[in-house]
Amino acid sequence: MFITFEGLDGVGKTTQVELLHNHLNQRHDVLTIKEPGTTEIGNTVREILLQKDKDLETETELFLFLASRSELVSKVIKPSLMQGKIVICDRFNESTIAYQGYGRGIGAYRVYNMCMFATQNITPNIIFYLHAPLEYLIENRFSGKHDRIENSGVSFYKKVQDGYEDWLETLPNVRKIDATQNIEKVSSDIAAYVDEFIANEKRK
Ligand code: TMP
Repeated sequence: MFITFEGLDGVGKTTQVELLHNHLNQRHDVLTIKEPGTTEIGNTVREILLQKDKDLETETELFLFLASRSELVSKVIKPSLMQGKIVICDRFNESTIAYQGYGRGIGAYRVYNMCMFATQNITPNIIFYLHAPLEYLIENRFSGKHDRIENSGVSFYKKVQDGYEDWLETLPNVRKIDATQNIEKVSSDIAAYVDEFIANEKRK
């Protein structure tokens, strides 16, 4: 089973990924991974992508994200799914579609097709989309050090958020979560949804 978490920077994905991991880990074999990163090449790519002073062409940025992901799928995600593990991924294709497709203006369908190629058509069973108004995130969560992508400005984030909304509306396996609620409420909703999903799968 493959679960991904999506949403803008600062929305609380990483915390929720960790909480879901701890919840499932009691009864299942779970692997949690982060995008970009996890593999050796992925971590090197992550460093390049997030360095503040790197001037990357838009296309280069896209290819680097996809290079990291294609390593991750071949070396980690596919083998783990084959072993029957639950794989939880902090960001996946929908991030690239929202950030590069909509945010950088490359185009959602073009990026989608490239993502499908890079990931051998793997699709998550559940996509948790953590959502909060941009103004809320700017006020409450966008603080401290910023990486290269976080330095892209509010208008960029507006495009990314609108892109997420637009794209995810078309997908059947998305669970949209109000991330302004407290952490415990968000995590218990997510855990309940996954438990129910697993129970339904067993009944099939
Ligand atoms: P993270 O902070 O969630 O680890 O993500 C790193 C940054 O990279 C974040 O600003 C989102 C961005 N990103 C993209 O622009 N495209 C992608 O495909 C992914 C996975 C992340």
